[in-house]
Amino acid sequence: MDYYDLVKKAMKAKENAYAPYSGFRVGACVKTQDGRIYTGCNIENSSFGATICAERTAIVKAISEGETKISAIAITSDSDGLTYPCGICRQVISEFRSDNTKIICSNKKGEYKIYEINDILPHAFTKEDMG
Ligand code: THU
Repeated sequence: MDYYDLVKKAMKAKENAYAPYSGFRVGACVKTQDGRIYTGCNIENSSFGATICAERTAIVKAISEGETKISAIAITSDSDGLTYPCGICRQVISEFRSDNTKIICSNKKGEYKIYEINDILPHAFTKEDMG
């Protein structure tokens, strides 16, 4: 898989971020198991709890178009350091994981590291836990 291509697409999606409250722009790019690409940005709201992260924007776009599994997701921001998904986004990524979903965490220069969902969300809560 061309991980850097996903990072570049996430960087482009970041340009559409609506972040007037935090000033922190985030972009994400999902590749589904079927090989399709969906991008997203963070979209804030004056009612702060209505804010949605870039990762979930991209995932919601994919799932609502009929996709079921995520092979990889790239995340980026304007930070010097790598940007990692928040806890809620890790849980949502986990819900739509494939066998080996990759999380590509990038910085503003496009430098990145690759993780697996199990690395960043060990012992995830899943439907199996509901007995
Ligand atoms: N944000 C994301 O888009 N993804 C993350 O994983 C972390 C946080 C956004 C939400 C909010 O708009 C801003 O970054 C500051 O928290």
